[in-house]
Amino acid sequence: MDKSKFKTLLTEKTNAINEMLEHFLPEEKGMQVTVIEAMNYSVRVGGKRLRPMFMQETFTMCGGTEAEMGLLEPFMAALEMIHTYSLVHDDLPAMDNDTLRRGNPTTWYKYGETAGILAGDGLLNYAFETAAKALGNISAMSDLAPEKKAELFERATKALTILGRKAGIFGMVGGQVADLEAEGKGDAVSEEMLLFIHENKTAALIQAAMTIGAVLAGADASEIDKLEKCAYNIGIAFQIQDDILDVIGDTAELGKTVGSDEENDKQTYVRLKGLETAKRDVAALSAEAIQILDSFEKEHEFLSELVNQLIDRRK
Ligand code: IPE
Ligand code: IPE
Ligand code: MG
Ligand code: MG
Ligand code: MG
Repeated sequence: MDKSKFKTLLTEKTNAINEMLEHFLPEEKGMQVTVIEAMNYSVRVGGKRLRPMFMQETFTMCGGTEAEMGLLEPFMAALEMIHTYSLVHDDLPAMDNDTLRRGNPTTWYKYGETAGILAGDGLLNYAFETAAKALGNISAMSDLAPEKKAELFERATKALTILGRKAGIFGMVGGQVADLEAEGKGDAVSEEMLLFIHENKTAALIQAAMTIGAVLAGADASEIDKLEKCAYNIGIAFQIQDDILDVIGDTAELGKTVGSDEENDKQTYVRLKGLETAKRDVAALSAEAIQILDSFEKEHEFLSELVNQLIDRRK
């Protein structure tokens, strides 16, 4: 796929995701309006929307149909809410203590620390309330045969389980705990430990994205396994590149403050292996991910190119 076609498609898809998200955000009213404003600010302020995009692309690649879209969209929105909450909490003074995110003040820096904590909590819970809308949408599909309905309920249940698991202690939360415990430990943090951190804090939500897309489309177990491995590679590569950009990126372009990892005395992939090896590993992991995608027969040109373009992303 040529670069200009990819860019046009990327913009179209990102805009469509932003529009879709608007339908799911809570209304800013009631006595708790401040926290709702802080939640919506965090989601609306920007972001690449990669996780919902990965979910949509694997859904399509695994044969998901227009009629099943009512299952997909609530999960796309829910995952972006969970990802956004992970960033809101990650930036808190007790965690990475950052003041710039998505090119704007971090949620806690703008609204205060209490609002930052509660906006994260709000987004996490609202995410599951949102994902559960998929169940209501299945119930409302009046022209479906009962067996088909039962099958869709089964897919949605499986997707909810993946979402909870990959976001929680066996995924993102688990990785964040290990990341914070490793601070200040320098080279006592082994490669195995660093990969545990990267796998859980970052790859887990990308695995959720790609496997939920597949599950909702009715993919079989072997396809789901392949995509879990593919998303592992994409996720590790993504976090290595994030570590690289924290060293050689540009604050204005990146939208977050460069040098945060050094400031917090984090063990990173760049610190462990050096910049050149880190860059090589991003390319190798991504190439392997694309190979896995190419074992799928259905069209996935955009998805492969997305993985390819992320190799030397600048933000
Ligand atoms: C940032 O994720 C946190 C990491 C897991 C490295 P993204 O780089 O996807 O952040 P946004 O959503 O585009 O802001
Ligand atoms: C965080 O990794 C991953 C999350 C689960 C939020 P980082 O702490 O490196 O992410 P950034 O650089 O702040 O986006
Ligand atoms: Mg962090
Ligand atoms: Mg951080
Ligand atoms: Mg980082």
